[in-house]
Amino acid sequence: MTDHVFYRNLKKQYKEVSHGEGIYLYDTDGNRYIDAASGAAVSNLGHAHPKVIRAMEEQARKVAFSHLSRWTSPAIRELASLTATLAPGTLNKLYLVSGGSEATESALKMARQYYLERDGAASPKHRIISRWKSFHGNTIGALSMTGDKRRQKYMPLLLDFPHIPQCYCYRCPFSCQPETCGVECAHALETAIKEAGPENVAAFIAETVVGAACGALVPHRDYFKIIRQICDRYDILYIDDEVMAGFGRTGRIFAIDEWDVIPDLICAAKGMSAGYSPLGGVIAKDKIYDTFKNGSGSFVHGHTYGGNPLSAAVAAAVVKVLIEEDLAANARTVGAYLLQNLREKLLPFAYVGDVRGIGLMQGVELIKNKATKEPFPAGAGIAEKLTITLMKHGVIVYPGTGNADGENGDQFLLAPPLILTHSQADELADRMVAAFAEFEAVAKTYQ
Ligand SMILES: Cc1ncc(COP(=O)(O)O)c(C=O)c1O
Repeated sequence: MTDHVFYRNLKKQYKEVSHGEGIYLYDTDGNRYIDAASGAAVSNLGHAHPKVIRAMEEQARKVAFSHLSRWTSPAIRELASLTATLAPGTLNKLYLVSGGSEATESALKMARQYYLERDGAASPKHRIISRWKSFHGNTIGALSMTGDKRRQKYMPLLLDFPHIPQCYCYRCPFSCQPETCGVECAHALETAIKEAGPENVAAFIAETVVGAACGALVPHRDYFKIIRQICDRYDILYIDDEVMAGFGRTGRIFAIDEWDVIPDLICAAKGMSAGYSPLGGVIAKDKIYDTFKNGSGSFVHGHTYGGNPLSAAVAAAVVKVLIEEDLAANARTVGAYLLQNLREKLLPFAYVGDVRGIGLMQGVELIKNKATKEPFPAGAGIAEKLTITLMKHGVIVYPGTGNADGENGDQFLLAPPLILTHSQADELADRMVAAFAEFEAVAKTYQ
């Protein structure tokens, strides 16, 4: 049968998925895989969770869609109320969209309009500062903030937003050591603000823990405190992109809680509805909401599916399971156990440079030369090749490239469902070690 699907990569062979159960996905040939990336850090509750399926069915019978321009619903109010309880500080208001890019794009526009509402139509504040080696989504605003190679082909279309170096301790852009450094990467924000002119800057955006662009970079313990202070000093908003890290993945409901800092806006998606229905959101501080309410009263923005009752009911069910089953705590304990195991077993391989992460958001960086940290050449396609080998061993990971210098560099993200047990973590590690041993011969041909 002719396949009429326009895939992302037209040269790739795709497996056909049959069904999923818990942490496992099955293909139509009957093979079983550990969904060790939860797709792309999405399926946080695993597959076919009965409580979520029940909530979905019940809401679909009542009403699946009503447009947010005219209707509210018990489902969106319940989700917003749950989110307000969980989010830090006074981040009490939820603006709903349908995914991560829509969330960051909405945060960008919310930041811009916030200053118009507060300071009047002449406010020049509009630029968003972000970081290299980051990912904030594929729409044009989100891609303008993104700092990895996915932006390259679209450069002529992008907004002129400044980027600062990443907090990447394994390849510190300032050649420092995390134990002794002055967190120069955080202070770089101040320089960028001064260069752009604080009067022109609306916000700084950062992933709490960097996801697909760099394989689970966990920032320095002081990083976000310094960022918060700088944002306050120059009157710019701090947008925390938790599209990947949020809703339990890092061992906290919101990853930023680990750094004990309160952002102005949090972007969420992925784990918030855990893949059962597309959903994203921007969680806003009361002061931002109040400024809109006391100003024009309307955010000139919106997406058709944002706030549909079906996705909201699904997300509310997901969040309730997350809390009832204390899955953030599970991510913390099983994640620490898995990370230690992987460090012990993978770091001895000559082509493994770093194994890092927090909770169940982990990354493995692959390198050509351990001593110099020289990456494999991009053309070798090492991350993708290793991913195929891992699939042969029944493990699905999420590979990425370009982390070393914008072009070269291979890493992959591990983000198994938060329901992972200790014995499943052992199974995952054993399968990975077997795949890594098999791959040694391939890696050697490029070393
Ligand atoms: C941190 C972050 N922000 C934004 C996005 C974009 O989300 P989406 O793919 O749902 O548009 C992603 C997706 O991977 C992400 O990891």
